[in-house]
Amino acid sequence: MNDFKERIAAELIAVRDRSLAYTEADDDLLVRQHSPLMSPLVWDLAHVGNYEELWVLREAAGIDPLRPEIDDIYDAFKTPRKDRPSLPILGPAEARRYIEGVRGRVLDVLDTIELDGPDPLHRDGFVFGLVIQHEHQHDETMLATLQLSGQVGLVRDGDLPPGRSEGPEEVFVPAGPFLMGTGTLPWAYDNERPAHRVDLPAYWIDRLPVGNRAYAAFIEDGGYDDARWWSAEGRQWKQRSGAFAPLFWVRDGDAWWRTRFGRTEPVPMDEPVQHVSWYEADAYARWAGKRLPTEAEWEKACGWDPGTGTARRYPWGEEAPAAERANLGHRASHPAPLGAYPAGASAYGAEQMVGDVWEWTGSWFQPYDGFRSFPYKEYSEVFFGEQYRVLRGGSWAADPAAVRTTFRNWDYPIRRQIFTGFRCARSELV
Ligand SMILES: [Fe+2]
Repeated sequence: MNDFKERIAAELIAVRDRSLAYTEADDDLLVRQHSPLMSPLVWDLAHVGNYEELWVLREAAGIDPLRPEIDDIYDAFKTPRKDRPSLPILGPAEARRYIEGVRGRVLDVLDTIELDGPDPLHRDGFVFGLVIQHEHQHDETMLATLQLSGQVGLVRDGDLPPGRSEGPEEVFVPAGPFLMGTGTLPWAYDNERPAHRVDLPAYWIDRLPVGNRAYAAFIEDGGYDDARWWSAEGRQWKQRSGAFAPLFWVRDGDAWWRTRFGRTEPVPMDEPVQHVSWYEADAYARWAGKRLPTEAEWEKACGWDPGTGTARRYPWGEEAPAAERANLGHRASHPAPLGAYPAGASAYGAEQMVGDVWEWTGSWFQPYDGFRSFPYKEYSEVFFGEQYRVLRGGSWAADPAAVRTTFRNWDYPIRRQIFTGFRCARSELV
């Protein structure tokens, strides 16, 4: 195998190690549904193998289905999450055997496949990038499931750099055009394409994500009960959900505690807030006299280099994310303190834009001009419209293989179980 194929093989092995580590639990925990929002963990496990079989073995290599009778069960479109526990899904041991069998054949295919031919599925190893990123995304979903399960001891914590308190509250992004999206990053998804020029007026954007201390001040100020800060939909959501603080927060007298992977601990006031819905982010921003950044504002502040007039792959440049640049790849099971990554700053000086928490933006998930669906409509196209809000940047649970300045995530504005926070922006005062 050449170097590129070796790298792909190493990524495949790394992501599988990760999936197996999250599913080392008792069978009972794996087959149970911990929330109607989530699949049983064992569904995710076999699903990533089924997706890999479908795309690498069948579509890219033309190999016959290994177990056609299970396809419908693992098709995320045919079976909504709430229905998955009632399906005849593979048990944990069988699921592990099945995905291992797929993986063995995938490595054989990798050995012989041409990665520089005309087929866009093969070119630059796209199909391998597709399944690697897909599996990492499910691993992040599995972490959200583990968090909802409240089980103790399943998730590790590593060391993160300390925060720092100096630095401006906001950074300024002057008016002017930038290149949004990408036409060159080989593993980018269809929804990130094509690269296109966007001309923005000047704006300010928070240097850091909103922290727990600032968010707690919003709560103390009666922010949840003050109709001025909430949109009509936000008020309805608040009424329905009874939300009074981020998900997993509990009040004890004057103090806030949170539960995290089965542990109860004081809310660390210097961490970015996470587990807030889009409506909460939107209300906070209005309370703070600001608004959520548009997706374009977010991407320009994160990835544009006005000095060279080029887009960066990461806020700091092209080098792969190292431990001193960003909190990615599940180094610890929580966001790093605010200010922990001066070496990860963007050209405009914004920090912690990738890693730590996904960030809600003010934008709906819509196609860029010139969008072409690839390799299938159900990846992005069926989600476009005014139902999903765009999330950017990637959380502590996102892997570097699935993070870049152009990467677009999306979810319903009511969602809080994901590892999501936000930062604010405001237009330049004239
Ligand atoms: Fe999936």
